[in-house]
Amino acid sequence: MAIIQTTGPPQDTNLIQLLLLLRTAKDLGAKSVTAVVPYFAYARQMRRGRSGECVSAEVVVNLVECVGADRFVTVNAHAPEILEWFKIPVENLSAITLLANFFKQQGLEGAFSFAPDDGALDLAKEGDRVLKGGYGCLDKMRDKITGEINVVEKAFNVKDRDVVVFDDIISTGATMQTAVKILKAQKARRVYAACVHPIFAEGAFERILSAGAEGVVGTDCVSNKVNVVSVAPVIVEALQRQL
Ligand code: R5P
Repeated sequence: MAIIQTTGPPQDTNLIQLLLLLRTAKDLGAKSVTAVVPYFAYARQMRRGRSGECVSAEVVVNLVECVGADRFVTVNAHAPEILEWFKIPVENLSAITLLANFFKQQGLEGAFSFAPDDGALDLAKEGDRVLKGGYGCLDKMRDKITGEINVVEKAFNVKDRDVVVFDDIISTGATMQTAVKILKAQKARRVYAACVHPIFAEGAFERILSAGAEGVVGTDCVSNKVNVVSVAPVIVEALQRQL
């Protein structure tokens, strides 16, 4: 059987519910339980950035395993390397093709696929396989203490062109805001923000639009007003695959 429970805000409540559901399914005799967690809370913290911080990704991986999950399925894990800590089989699905297909259907075939940092470059490449307008990324650095974002100046082939910026997650919106501003300053025509996990801390949506984005599109991995694209097709496919 599969238990589908995402762990977006309120993440603590949703995470506890996930653990209780998994445990109960096993207690009641389920032979094998797949945990489908489209957004995996706490998984961004895969190392101790600052002294005293918790490596929360390791804790949540251990919890899911220890309540008895037999298989784990997630979507665009921010740091796929944390999935190696699982001893059970794991699948890290991608929703980028679904997002890119949405833009293609909206007439944006040929748009430039962009990533707001080099960690997301593979997402832009995946978007480009659908949109076929080329891809690129920013060199972004974020100060661990202040959260301030700095980017290396670079010119992109975006003048008078539509651009889709793909990222795995939007939290404060500062990363996306920076990318949109730079693209608009380089005279991109329409810039759209696309993400798999629209966490959206307060003000994130407005921040991105105020930078000049035409629109913000997210998947339903996290419940939000920008849920335009459903990840159900990739989850169904994964569940139909034999282990
Ligand atoms: C960073 O590496 C991630 O891919 C996202 O770009 C980042 O977590 C987004 O955070 P925020 O919206 O707070 O800038």
